Amino acid sequence: MIKLIKSTFYKEKATKIKLCAFINKAKQLSMGSECEKFEKNFAFYQGRKHCVFLNSGSSANLAIIQALINLGKIKQNDLIGFSALTWSTNVMPLIQLGLKTVPIDVELDTLNVSSRKLLYTLEKYNIKMLFLTNLLGFCDDIDEIRKVCGKRKIILIEDNCESLGTVYKGKKLGSYGLASTFSFYVGHHMSTVEGGAVCTDLKELASMTCMVRAHGWDRNLSLESQNKIRDKFNVNSTFYSRYTFYDLGYNLRPTEIAGFLGNSQLKYIDKIVKKRQQNFMQMAKPIYQRSDRYYPIRFDHIDFLSNFAVPVLCKSQQIRDDLVKKCEGKIEIRPIVGGDMTRQPFFDKYEKKFSHILGDSNAKLIHDQGLYFGNNPELTEREMKLIIDIFCN
Ligand SMILES: Cc1ncc(COP(=O)(O)O)c(C=O)c1O
Repeated sequence: MIKLIKSTFYKEKATKIKLCAFINKAKQLSMGSECEKFEKNFAFYQGRKHCVFLNSGSSANLAIIQALINLGKIKQNDLIGFSALTWSTNVMPLIQLGLKTVPIDVELDTLNVSSRKLLYTLEKYNIKMLFLTNLLGFCDDIDEIRKVCGKRKIILIEDNCESLGTVYKGKKLGSYGLASTFSFYVGHHMSTVEGGAVCTDLKELASMTCMVRAHGWDRNLSLESQNKIRDKFNVNSTFYSRYTFYDLGYNLRPTEIAGFLGNSQLKYIDKIVKKRQQNFMQMAKPIYQRSDRYYPIRFDHIDFLSNFAVPVLCKSQQIRDDLVKKCEGKIEIRPIVGGDMTRQPFFDKYEKKFSHILGDSNAKLIHDQGLYFGNNPELTEREMKLIIDIFCN
């Protein structure tokens, strides 16, 4: 069986040995200097001024939405656009925090929202923010999406949990929006077992995300930001400042173990994404050439494609169902991410009465006719040959 996830870490054995040594000698395992170091390292890698490290990608999504609400940049009942093809915990924080969700359809050939789809949705819905998902390492014309958002004063936030390392028009995905979120879950590009991050260039937003991450207090802010907020709220006593809670927060902190893992795995990130890119090209090219069976997925507009699972979009449900049978016991497969979110029970329960995808939905077709299989650096030539065989013959 070719599993979706083959290992916990890149260079698993060496990483586990280093991890044991780290734990044995560490004085502190709750969030501390390793996490801080990782935030600096990851912000540098991503080309952003600030990174806030969290305990998962889902937590990163929740934290950024809460931070934007705390800062008054969005408020309850505002309309928020999201990619109809995404993961549950991209949409759920929007619902949980009292925002109104507007699903935006994706393009069939890129699986992502385009500026065309966005403009079409804007004819009916006046959205305040777009929570765009960069799906499976792909994107459409995110540069144009950014322009549309800029012109119409729509806040653009990228959920980049699936596209760490992809470069489009010379810029890494996750660098187009006001802020972006990342996941370091074991099945994703880089693993801290569980982990996530928010990146932004805006200090105010990074500081608020830090407060949201831990109880709403100011403990992990810079001295300058601490002084500013203490002055604003007349907190003059050091004693009370330790337990002053300025705005709504949670506890979404990572541990030093995750920080240590992040720092050691980040050293391999270029190798990891390069290998995955090579694997993608080797498997996807011959599979997508079977245009009698599959819709081709376009990626020639992307400078560097960083992918962890290969999507296959069948021309009929019958072809997909046959493939599901052929893969049984041989290749682990899944629907393309969460499929069409508007067809999930939670969406039906909370949002259906209010919003739906406009026009003929590609997300629906992808939900009904798509699947993906894993792409990780440990795939052997034999395994890739078997995958190509099953999908092409
Ligand atoms: C687009 C997207 N956003 C968010 C998440 C959540 O990340 P995590 O599993 O780290 O909570 C995922 C998880 O797969 C995802 O695919």
